[in-house]
Amino acid sequence: MESPFKGAILKGKVGLLTGGGSGIGYEIAAELGKHGASIVIMGRRKHVLDSAVSALRSLGIDAIGVEGDVRKKEDTVRVVDATIKQFGKLDILVNAAAGNFLVPAEDLSPNGFRTVMDIDAVGTFTMCHVAFPYLKKGGIIINISATLHLTATWYQIHASAAKAAVDSLTRSLALEWGTDYGIRVNGIAPGPIDDTTGASKLITEEVNLKKQQDSALYRMGEKWDIAMAALYLASDAGKYVNGVTLVVDGGIWLSSPRHMSKDEVKQLSKTVEKRSRDAPVGVPKSNL
Ligand code: HXC
Repeated sequence: MESPFKGAILKGKVGLLTGGGSGIGYEIAAELGKHGASIVIMGRRKHVLDSAVSALRSLGIDAIGVEGDVRKKEDTVRVVDATIKQFGKLDILVNAAAGNFLVPAEDLSPNGFRTVMDIDAVGTFTMCHVAFPYLKKGGIIINISATLHLTATWYQIHASAAKAAVDSLTRSLALEWGTDYGIRVNGIAPGPIDDTTGASKLITEEVNLKKQQDSALYRMGEKWDIAMAALYLASDAGKYVNGVTLVVDGGIWLSSPRHMSKDEVKQLSKTVEKRSRDAPVGVPKSNL
């Protein structure tokens, strides 16, 4: 789909994306690039990075890929150094690297829990910390979160805890770095997004959601939806937005079972209203 944003809103900016070789991270990289930013993508798999960089370049985007794991401090330093060496600065850090799998809580080892915390939460903090000296000159951060922990999600205790920590980091950094340095720190919490690793690994409701493509918003989103949210936050359109995690899920996280049809509720409501109108004043409700 065509972007509703002007083409050059990020002209001259440099974006660094962890997990930028595939999925939501790649889509954000491509849209930031199409809107004028130079791009560095970081990821663990060289072949994935190589083909992502080729795809970005074929769109006319100035892009490089740097192998690395956000769990290794030395890798994060190397990626930020490579960014500065290649492009001379860093304006936009997008923390999109994440790990997840479905597992009942009682079957998850502490190391499995720690692994996801390390990638999502500690990895996000490490990247922010290492990039900070460069972001201080007017940068912004976008942390990719999730909606898992807004209520509770079956079989994802580790990722729910990790994304809750990410949201907390977003707010704390927004407070400290926004106040002291003007760095805006925001998050995006995608709902179920089609054609991503998350969708294929985790969404047991996928079939259901796909069947409902014709219902107003209760359906899978597209990577494009998340990239547009990132453009909003990264550009001047979001210049007064700080410390927010924007939920982009069509409102699915709010969904709950409908206990009564609209017709039933209208009927019941009329009856209840009539009963309370006709009741003598002062009669306890329990006697009506
Ligand atoms: C139970 C598991 C497990 C599983 C791994 N572990 N997979 N436990 N069920 N399916 C445990 C292992 O047993 C081990 O603990 C520990 O986790 C580390 O496992 P490793 O395989 O050594 O880790 P590693 O090779 O570093 O791989 C990390 C990973 C992997 C997170 C486990 O899945 C990965 O690399 N994922 C990246 C891609 C990804 O998942 N993307 C999805 C993001 S979706 P022990 O105790 O045995 O040593 C997302 C969006 C959420 O985040 C919202 C969607 C709606």
